[in-house]
Amino acid sequence: MILVTGATGQYGAKAIEHLLHKGVEAQHLSALVRDAAKGQKLQDQGIELRVGDYTNVDALVQAFQGVDTLLLVSSNDRGAVENRTAHHLNVIKAAQAARVKRLVYTSFVTKPAFQDSAIAGFLTSHAQTEQFLKDSGLPYTILQNGIYLEMIPLFAGAQVAETGVLLFPAQEGKASWVLREELAEAAAHVLTTEGHENKTYVLVNTEATSFQDIAQDLSSRLGKAIQYQSPPVEEFQATLTQVGVPEVYVGMFTMWASAVAQGMMDVQDSTLAAFLGRKPTTTAQFITQVYQ
Ligand SMILES: NC(=O)c1ccc[n+]([C@@H]2O[C@H](COP(=O)([O-])OP(=O)(O)OC[C@H]3O[C@@H](n4cnc5c(N)ncnc54)[C@H](OP(=O)(O)O)[C@@H]3O)[C@@H](O)[C@H]2O)c1
Repeated sequence: MILVTGATGQYGAKAIEHLLHKGVEAQHLSALVRDAAKGQKLQDQGIELRVGDYTNVDALVQAFQGVDTLLLVSSNDRGAVENRTAHHLNVIKAAQAARVKRLVYTSFVTKPAFQDSAIAGFLTSHAQTEQFLKDSGLPYTILQNGIYLEMIPLFAGAQVAETGVLLFPAQEGKASWVLREELAEAAAHVLTTEGHENKTYVLVNTEATSFQDIAQDLSSRLGKAIQYQSPPVEEFQATLTQVGVPEVYVGMFTMWASAVAQGMMDVQDSTLAAFLGRKPTTTAQFITQVYQ
């Protein structure tokens, strides 16, 4: 029995789709959900729902009974980043108590000296989870996922075609963007094939791209010049605040822009391509798919 957590989220739902596509029978799949009503579609496909929250270890132990392999989709808690760490540790503890045989964890691509980066909090949470998992003795596979391509339209903003300006303080930094669905497909590969025990995989693209590249791709796709501007962070924040962007998003965009500028996601690797059996979707292909 394979159990996927975060099954009503975007990555978890795609992982389940790919597991089914790879021939895993629905009766051998279960889904951890917080809200059974949200999991109705999964249940209709014959997938057993297990209800539990990352904050409740006892409910998780119950939910993990009979599970051999568990895909832990990392928490998206919007509060203190320490909440995410606590959630992950709860899942690992519960998996141990329920005698799960292997745990696959969705981490994030990292680099040395990450503690000094703009995304130090997130990376510390993942590093602590990875260490706890390794120390637990539970056979594991760690998937260090790259940054989602799907973040690009959020960072570019809905008005980019209209204004002709891509405003983002990422300087000349590059990132190795990947499609969320392809990361989920890679997870399904790892869950259904042998030889991944106690391995850590970096799942990123084979090429990294800058926001200058993204502006060029947008220009080609939209048939209109899109100019990339990387203002100082304070100026960027003031501009967003002025047009009514909520403070939480201003903080999030600034954090990711600074991390790109610092090259934190500028890591190329061919493991994802090998797991997919094809070249991962490129930034240019993604822009062609998403923008009209
Ligand atoms: N690589 C990247 O660029 C990137 C970008 C964004 C996020 N992430 C990470 O990757 C994860 C998966 O991405 P995604 O796009 O699928 O995110 P998502 O759509 O927000 O899904 C997150 C899932 O986690 C579940 N969850 C959150 N808190 C939980 C809790 N306390 N107990 C049980 N389940 C809980 C959610 O349950 P509900 O369905 O009940 O809400 C949801 O199913 C995120 O959670 C985040 O850690 C990575």
